[in-house]
Formats: sequence, C-alpha cells, structure tokens
Amino acid sequence: MNEHTPDAFTIDASERRAVAQPRNPSFYQDPYTFYTQLHAAAPAFVWENYGHWCFAGFSEVNALLRDRRFGRQILHVATREELGLPEPKPHTSDFDLTEKFSLLSLEPPDHTRLRTLVNRAFVSRNVEQLRPRIEALANELIDAFEASGKVELLKAFAAPIPAIVIAEMIGVPSDMAMQLVAWSNRMVQMYMFGVTESVERDANAAAIEFMAYLRDLIAARRKAPKEDLLTHMLTAGADGQKLTDKEVISTAILLLNAGHEATVHTTGNAVKTILASGFDPETLFASPEQTAATVEECLRFDAPLHMFTRFALQDLELEGGVTLRKGDTIGLMLGAANRDPRRFTDADRFDPFRTDGANVSFGAGIHFCIGAPLARIELQTALATLFRRLPKLGLAEPPSYSNVYHFHGLDRLLVEW
Ligand code: HEM
Repeated sequence: MNEHTPDAFTIDASERRAVAQPRNPSFYQDPYTFYTQLHAAAPAFVWENYGHWCFAGFSEVNALLRDRRFGRQILHVATREELGLPEPKPHTSDFDLTEKFSLLSLEPPDHTRLRTLVNRAFVSRNVEQLRPRIEALANELIDAFEASGKVELLKAFAAPIPAIVIAEMIGVPSDMAMQLVAWSNRMVQMYMFGVTESVERDANAAAIEFMAYLRDLIAARRKAPKEDLLTHMLTAGADGQKLTDKEVISTAILLLNAGHEATVHTTGNAVKTILASGFDPETLFASPEQTAATVEECLRFDAPLHMFTRFALQDLELEGGVTLRKGDTIGLMLGAANRDPRRFTDADRFDPFRTDGANVSFGAGIHFCIGAPLARIELQTALATLFRRLPKLGLAEPPSYSNVYHFHGLDRLLVEW
C-alpha cells in the first residue's frame, strides 16, 4: 500500500487546526489516513496550509454544497478592495478569461441561463444513446494494444475514451482529442497548491492556443452549421438571449476539460482499486446493475476530485461555532466525506456490494456535475469492457498518484496480462 510517514500531517483536535502540506508525497499518496483521523478528531478544522476552514464530514459537505449563503463567485457581492483580494495577474489574463464565463465560476442568474442551454445534451436519456459508441471505442483501443501484453493504461485507454466522446459531442474532430487533453493537462496545473509563475505562464499559453482553436471552429460552424453542441450553443439562446462568443468559448473549454480529466482519473483509480481488492472482476461486472454499483463504489472509495471551495456571501455562523466573514473561503472535502464513518458502514473498505454507497463525488446543489450521467456510462462501459477483454489484467508496477492534491489521480498505470 502507499507509504505514509508520520510527518505527513498533524491535527490539533482541541484547537480544531491541522497542518498537512498538500505537495508532500507522503500526504498526497495517501490522504485517507489524514481523513480517518480528522473524522475522529476534528471534522471541521482550519487547514493551516490553505488558511481557511475545511469540512470533512459527509452531511456537512453535502449541506454546504447546497447552502445558498455560499457561492463559487464573490465579486458580484463585494469588490477586491473590500475583500483584500490581490489584483488579477497580467500573465494569467487569458487563462482567467476562460474561467470568467465558465459555469463553475458563475452564480444565478448567469449560471442558470448558461446551464439551461447545455443541460439538455447531458441528461440521462440523451447520453444513454452513446453506450454503443463508447463500447466500440473501448474495444478499438483494446484491439490496438492487446497483443503487446503490457500497456500504460491511462494514455492508451483511460484518456482517449472520455476525450473523444466529449470532443464528438461538442463537434471537435476526434483526431484533435489528444491535443485537447494536452491543453487541458497544462491548464489544470493552475490548481496545484503553491503554483509557480512558470506553470502559470504555461497554463496561460495553453489557454491562448485553446481559445484560438475554438475561435476558428466557431467561425467554421457559423458558415456551415452542424448537428453538434457547438452549433447549438451558437444558435440557441435561453429566454431569447444568445450566448456571446466568450461564453461559448468558456463553456466549450469547461466541457472539454471537465469532460475528461475526472473521468480519466476515476478510470485509473478504479482499475487500481479493483486489482488491489482481491475481488474477481467477473463478479463485479456480472450484470448492468452490479456494474453500476461497482462504478459507484469506485467513485466513493477513491474519488478523483478531493476538494472544492466556496466563498461565504455574507457574515454567518455555522453550527459548531464556526464564524465566517463575507468573502471567507471554505474547503469542502469530497474525498474525505466519502469515507465518513458516520455515513458509511466500514467506510475505509472497498465493497462493491454495499447498498449505502451514494456519495458526493459529483458534488451537490446548483453546481452538481452536469456530466455525471455521461461519466457513469463511460466508466461502466469502459471498465466492464476492459475486464471482460483482459480477465488476467494485473499491475506491472505499483502505481503512484500525481502531485496535484485536488485532482487525485495516478501519474501512470502500467498493467500487464
Ligand atoms: C468521474 C467523472 C466526474 C467527476 C467525479 C466530476 C465531478 C464534478 C464535481 C464535484 C463538480 C462540482 C464542483 C463544485 O461544486 O464546485 C462538477 C461540475 C461540473 N462537471 Fe463534472 N465530474 C466528472 C465528469 C464530468 C464530465 C464527463 C463532464 C462533461 C460534460 C463534466 C462537466 C462538468 C461541468 C460543466 C460542471 C460545472 C457545473 C456547474 O457549475 O453548474 N464533468 N463535476
């Protein structure tokens, strides 16, 4: 199992404070030891390295995600000066532009307007039709590496499936899918704890290239509309209003990035978990219902996204005596909430046959993941196909997690059969 050294974290239960350096390998390789102790000692605590309150309990995280006194945006209710926030950095201005109109950074009414427009494409009955396409894609990818007996599964299998599927939905040619992954990987580095200026500049350069590519594609769709989400975003408007080009670009980038990053990590984490569990994969994918339950347990047990933040939109006091000022940040620890012993029996045990597996890996409230039905179908189809085609699958080396705590995913996954 993962190495864990005693210096990975300290928790002061009486003061409700904890120190855990997110970039310390012994921490991010195994954040669960920290979570187990937090649940016992201080599920609401100030994480000193981030400098704000964080919440690890399932019911607290679930409730705070739905609590409208918190938002992902703050500058609609207060200025930077009032909040003492630093000015935006000129060298990340293009990256910031991609986020400015993204669903994830908006609050109602803009959030509602944008979300309504793209939501229809992602509801279950629409994405359900993609199952045969996803299965064909999974089979094609396995055909390409089956004879080699050994492969790095993230690159050869986990990444192309969601990247190609979301690219095709939006209307980006599928041979561009891995270029999208490359842009996205560079942009995601911005969320690393203690990000450096050179990483920021690289993420900004990736944002410039990504936006330029989409601008050209938008121009092409205006000339020759197609049956795809990009054309839909350009032509349809909620309440008679049209999306601006900037909104279309932000939304397309969010969908393309969010549409694969977390699914790739979940696939990798799930394969690792299943192989380490000792369960016979055949039983885990024996029926569509059991496949769905297995995927749900993989999402709970080793979630790909461990923390999202919110701003307090007003001064307020939470139960348990947590006092917050308008503009304060809170951290909602999805990966920890999924292991809360108050909510789950044997929370630290991987059990694909459990019936209490409903988790917060996709969030909750108005920002609940729009891609959840799609991600579930991708994961169910990809994993069931993989284990059916390669029943002797095993790890060729112990995998390790990459150094971005929030995005809890493996840096590579070498498997053999
Ligand atoms: C296993 C895979 C996935 C996981 C675990 C995941 C998780 C999440 C979470 C936790 C949020 C909420 C963030 C917050 O509340 O601050 C979210 C939002 C979002 N996700 Fe996913 N996601 C996954 C796959 C996808 C896919 C395939 C898409 C593609 C369409 C997608 C698109 C989005 C979008 C657009 C939002 C923003 C929604 C909003 O702000 O209204 N996600 N996701």
